[in-house]
Amino acid sequence: MLMVHKANKLKGKCVVPGDKSISHRAVMLSGISKGTTKIEGFLKGEDCLATLRCFQQMGVKVKEEKNQLFITGKGLHGLEEPEDVLDAGNSGTTMRLMAGILSGQDFYSVITGDASLRKRPMKRIAFPLRKMGAGIDGREMGTQAPLTIRGGGLKGIEYQLPVASAQIKSAVLLAGLFADGVTSVIEPRVSRDHTERMLQSFGVTVRQDGLKCTVKSEELQATHIEVPGDISSAAFILVAAACIKGSDVTLENIGINPTRAGIIDVLCQMGAEIGIKNKREIGGEPIADVRVQGSDLKSVEIGEAQIPSLIDEIPVLAIAAVCAKGTTRITGAAELRVKETDRISAMEEELKKIGVEITPLEDGMIIDGPQTITGGSTDSHGDHRIAMAMAVAGLLSEEPVTIDNHHCMAVSFPGFIETIENLRED
Ligand code: S3P
Repeated sequence: MLMVHKANKLKGKCVVPGDKSISHRAVMLSGISKGTTKIEGFLKGEDCLATLRCFQQMGVKVKEEKNQLFITGKGLHGLEEPEDVLDAGNSGTTMRLMAGILSGQDFYSVITGDASLRKRPMKRIAFPLRKMGAGIDGREMGTQAPLTIRGGGLKGIEYQLPVASAQIKSAVLLAGLFADGVTSVIEPRVSRDHTERMLQSFGVTVRQDGLKCTVKSEELQATHIEVPGDISSAAFILVAAACIKGSDVTLENIGINPTRAGIIDVLCQMGAEIGIKNKREIGGEPIADVRVQGSDLKSVEIGEAQIPSLIDEIPVLAIAAVCAKGTTRITGAAELRVKETDRISAMEEELKKIGVEITPLEDGMIIDGPQTITGGSTDSHGDHRIAMAMAVAGLLSEEPVTIDNHHCMAVSFPGFIETIENLRED
């Protein structure tokens, strides 16, 4: 159990661990490329380590030197049939993206995950991958993990995504690397585009035409990847500092890819003082230093169009809404119900325990602010983002907030508590 006390202010500079989405993709793409890829800033969180172990089980060689990973790929057709079940742990990205790659392999594989992942929907990837020719089965009529995959013999398809999901988009595009003919996905709204950007760094031609993205089979060539700081991890510090008057924090080397940076736009709309400095690009991804100062926040309306760019930040945005004056309304976010936990119900349940009322909606929530966070005992539901959102609530709370099952924070942000404590100025 973790206890978090109110912070007087947060001050100083910090870095956050590498981007989770980019770290996963760095392992996957280097694993199927020719040559050795150097990865700097890889996130050693539980989720990305699960991806790394799965690729090692398929014969990919990984060396670590001075915090850099060197991954020697097997080429498009060199992965080996894993002798045992592949374990994606808590990670939806591992399971869904890897299912795309496994669908292209001429072998049999089984992927499972923890209790949370085994409940999450897999039909969304199984359906298009079967259309391409993969043999995929699983529990609940082939819709839940463990999944068995008999890959190979794929043909390209054009697939209209039913939801704006980078995981589904990426699974189909990755399978497209092994398919005969061209493979296209059409998104209802733009979702994070790290797969498309990184494929290009590995020398693959990716055609983007509005919401349609097309690839075809092509060998990947090893490259050098620098993983930027994860904006989804930075979000916890951004919100905490924005809500606490007198705070002044600069987060260095944060990825500000526009398909991910919705949190910055929304905090600015809420009246937060945010400055973006030292903008640059590494490996096709925009990064910058982000300075945030505490100020009075006002409520905001967030609708479907903005959701994909901040889907993982909604639990902590709910904390910002608690501090903001007026009624914040978040809609179009039904996907929250199928994340590591049902994040709408979890936030309702946990906020209530610390004296905060929210109105849950089927696809979002309504929060009236400002409200006093009184403090109390909460539970993470085994979800890293709920755990860290509760820790941010603790920084703003009259009495301490305790968090049960807080170790899941290491899924995406190892060292989160130390980072906060180093910024605390009482
Ligand atoms: C991710 C995509 C998002 C996000 C998840 C990571 C990715 O999921 O919530 O944390 O790396 O592609 P969906 O694609 O299901 O929206």
